[in-house]
Amino acid sequence: MNILAIESSCDETCASVVRDGRTVLSNVVASQIETHALYGGVVPEIASRAHSEAIFPVTQKALSDAGLSLSAIDAVAVTNRPGLIGALLVGVNFAKSLAYAQKLPLIPVHHIMGHIAANYAYFNGTENRPLLEPPFTALVVSGGHTSLIEVTDYTKYSLIGATRDDAAGESFDKVARMVGLPYPGGAKMDARAKEGDPNAFVFPHAKVQGFPYDFTFSGLKTSAVNLIHNAQQKNAQQKGETLSVDDISASFTKAVVDTITSRVELLFNDKSRPFSKKLVMAGGVAANSHLRKALSELCEKYGVAFFVPPLSLCGDNGVMIGCQAYYEYRAEQNKDRFFDLSLNAYAAHEL
Ligand code: KG4
Ligand code: ZN
Repeated sequence: MNILAIESSCDETCASVVRDGRTVLSNVVASQIETHALYGGVVPEIASRAHSEAIFPVTQKALSDAGLSLSAIDAVAVTNRPGLIGALLVGVNFAKSLAYAQKLPLIPVHHIMGHIAANYAYFNGTENRPLLEPPFTALVVSGGHTSLIEVTDYTKYSLIGATRDDAAGESFDKVARMVGLPYPGGAKMDARAKEGDPNAFVFPHAKVQGFPYDFTFSGLKTSAVNLIHNAQQKNAQQKGETLSVDDISASFTKAVVDTITSRVELLFNDKSRPFSKKLVMAGGVAANSHLRKALSELCEKYGVAFFVPPLSLCGDNGVMIGCQAYYEYRAEQNKDRFFDLSLNAYAAHEL
């Protein structure tokens, strides 16, 4: 089954063709980062307009890269929740029109389940890694989410814990901006952290009392922001305090990584819940080299299999939507649901 998948929930216009939920036939991503970097963050209205311009050529390229015409496509999939509403609507309306014109099933996908499904993808048959199948525990770390999710089957899941305030990626971006790194700062902080001292500054590691698997990053973020502000004020008064961007990056990254790994380790030791011995990481922050290393070491220590997508599939992409859509379609008994043109987009949506 060839699925043409569209993703436009934030600042990347993406289209892909995926065969049988696993094999990547094409993966096209048109990034708007340069435009939004001018403003230090995503401007929703600009994102929607840029999606409208890019979606047709991006989809055409996804088909031509796959070497397929529209007649070889069996279904259209689209992210319809959660995300920026105007951005989502561009993808949803485009996918609806395409499905209607071609008389194809239309499969809506939750963005977070899509991120997790990036771990099902194979670019060719030669990748040397085991095939991921549920059940497993997923750690989703992105610009908008930090969640631990129990995935019992391809379309069955429950939330173990989530952030109460900022997401990990959001806090990376905010602190990066404060130290003068351009948006989105996560990847730049990752690189700078390699050059700095992780123990140069001690940042708080906050917990949510009574909810051991929930996260909170706002205190950590504010602590870093205050440190930077104080140094800037002293500088303005010519009292000369210049903070090392490398050291801040390293210390902040250490605090985020320790916060996340401590929750995961708690889960590994939690005898009260069944654990599949498989940990799956997903989302933009899954590209972070320090987090990948720390979790891979932790998994090795506990004899847990660790899955993480290739770097190209950590951020938003259409492949992940095509993978998840295949399993959504297979799971749904009443396939008529997938021809429903009343499909809408939702800015906020629980898992
Ligand atoms: O999954 P994603 O593309 O979009 C959302 O669904 O939110 O994640 C984007 C986030 C941004 O906050 C970006 O700074 C962060 O992922 N990110 C990173 C790295 N690469 C991307 N954060 C830390 N280290 C990285 N290497
Ligand atoms: Zn995302």
